[in-house]
Amino acid sequence: MSLIPKETVDQIIAQADIVEVVGDFVSLKKKGQNMWACCPFHHEKSPSFSVSPAKGIYKCFGCGKAGNSVQFIMDVEGTSFPEALKYLAKKYGIEVPEEQANPEYAKEQSDRDSLFIVSDFANKHYQQNLTQHEQGGIGQAYLKERGISGNTIRKFELGYSLDGWSDFTDAALKAGYKQQYLEATGLTIVKDDKRYDRFRARVMFPIHNVSGRVVGFGARTLKSNDKKSPKYLNSPESDIYHKSNVLYGLFQAKQAMRMQDLCYLVEGYLDVISLHQGGIENVVASSGTSLTEGQIKLIARYTQNITVLYDGDAAGVKASLRGIDLILENGLNVNVVTFPEGDDPDSYIQKVGDEAFKKYVREHSQDFISFKTSLYAAEAQGNPVKKAEAIREIVTSIAKIPDSIKRTVFFQSCSLIFDIDEQLLISEYNKMQLQGRQQQQQPKTGSPEEDYFDYEQAALAAEAAEYETDTNENDALKRYEREIVRMLLSYPDRLLEDGITTSHYILEQLEDIEFQTPIYRRLVEIVKDKLNQGILPSADDFINYPDNEIRTETTNLLSDPYELSPNWATHQIYVPHESDLLPYGTERAVLRLKFRYLESVVNIEAGKLKLVTDPQEQITQITYVMSLKKLHKQMGDMLGIVVFK
Ligand code: CTP
Ligand code: MN
Repeated sequence: MSLIPKETVDQIIAQADIVEVVGDFVSLKKKGQNMWACCPFHHEKSPSFSVSPAKGIYKCFGCGKAGNSVQFIMDVEGTSFPEALKYLAKKYGIEVPEEQANPEYAKEQSDRDSLFIVSDFANKHYQQNLTQHEQGGIGQAYLKERGISGNTIRKFELGYSLDGWSDFTDAALKAGYKQQYLEATGLTIVKDDKRYDRFRARVMFPIHNVSGRVVGFGARTLKSNDKKSPKYLNSPESDIYHKSNVLYGLFQAKQAMRMQDLCYLVEGYLDVISLHQGGIENVVASSGTSLTEGQIKLIARYTQNITVLYDGDAAGVKASLRGIDLILENGLNVNVVTFPEGDDPDSYIQKVGDEAFKKYVREHSQDFISFKTSLYAAEAQGNPVKKAEAIREIVTSIAKIPDSIKRTVFFQSCSLIFDIDEQLLISEYNKMQLQGRQQQQQPKTGSPEEDYFDYEQAALAAEAAEYETDTNENDALKRYEREIVRMLLSYPDRLLEDGITTSHYILEQLEDIEFQTPIYRRLVEIVKDKLNQGILPSADDFINYPDNEIRTETTNLLSDPYELSPNWATHQIYVPHESDLLPYGTERAVLRLKFRYLESVVNIEAGKLKLVTDPQEQITQITYVMSLKKLHKQMGDMLGIVVFK
């Protein structure tokens, strides 16, 4: 468990200047009190992302992301709260004395640091070999032949390991690195008092973790027909390199993944690099191994949509189907593109060019379940035994999908493709569910390095728990309505950052929503009437209102202690006062209320599904409910609430 002392947390928060922190990622332009840029969290052409130096916060009026410096790093890097703090501490040269908490942990940390440092040295060494050593010409010629430009070489920090036994090891020892760490990274192999380099005469592909530190290498031989040595050699597992939790290219891809809200998944190093060079930057590779749950969770930090780009051969496709079930199980959406026989994404883009490649991907992108269904349907033609097998195979995939509405849609399309009664598929599914339950679920294997306390997860869990226990919909609605009205009465005439008052903002946002609690409905009506008459109401108007009920409720509301958002409270970020963060606060309050309303609408519309019998109407209704659910989930994401249902 890693604990950062509270003083250090405070010091980091105090020193991390929002303009400097954000300025590392986007270019800010001053306009009025604030600085503006195009939002790094969603795609836009004109800037709606603002930074307030005075308040130390950022806020996007387009997508709603907002927070302080720490939150910004969490959002932009997809890291946990402690990781974000460490990032800022490093930037500002603040020492994080977590070692004192536990000497064993401290030793582990400094060992890990040594491995990072050695890997970084190796990375630079290999890059120098490629560009400066006479042998590097061989590597450069190879990369050129494969169509990789100088820019791309630098972007991916490609290098070369010399032909010889110990060029790297000698250089590292000479530079003062301990053999222990050279061995622990797997860069040096020690055998009976002899040491030699693991990687020799190969093009080097450094593998970065999410924050851009080198954790390992992939290395390709230049000999095409040498049967003795494998085409690719990779770093072994180490304390900093856990293959199941790393994706090649993620560091270079994550920004684009978020912007495009899509991740292309390929197999190889060169697939990633060629696509990047062709302008497709949202691409990562599993590097030849089958996809793991850890890798899927990494992708899910940035997007819920994966398109798998497959090699052309059928055997490869079938082998990867299992990995895709795992993606479905994690609730992500999967599409598939296959390439002509004999081509992989790299060879195909090099052959047809960037534009033709993009067009091909657009036109051949197919939803995974339909893809799998057609694949098996073709095989099962006229063979009843095979057909039964195929159906079981597909139902297995569909069963992995956590969302029941999505499942329904896929059962329908599968029944069409196979020309088989949908009910049969569903009963097959039910049978499977039953067996699954009887077999007792196997314990999931957790990853050992995740045993530190994660503040972000804790905050999310707290919100989620609140969400789960709020079973009485009306109570929840009432609370959220109350919160809105409280803000309305507390700051009715305050100007928000985009130049409109709190009252105008709230009423405009909630135009279509009818307040359910009578007293709040009345209060809102009063504000609305005043605004319509061109009068800006003030809190005093309500405190002195002629009607007793209104007066009492107003007084109650105005004497409420202001609420901290759970996220901020758990993060030990002390918000000076609610009124200093009013735009953020009102926006969240509005969003929360909308989130609740939408939830009841989803329930009502989903309930209607049972009553519809006409198939065409069913599809229309399902599509409608799915879009509502998607919206609901998106709002939940913005609020940091995980929607389980
Ligand atoms: N791979 C590996 N070890 C091997 C072979 C493959 O780690 N012995 C991984 C590499 O990440 C490689 C990916 O699997 O990029 C795909 O392998 P393959 O299809 O054989 O190679 P390509 O990527 O097509 O390699 P290249 O284009 O360089 O020939
Ligand atoms: Mn290839």
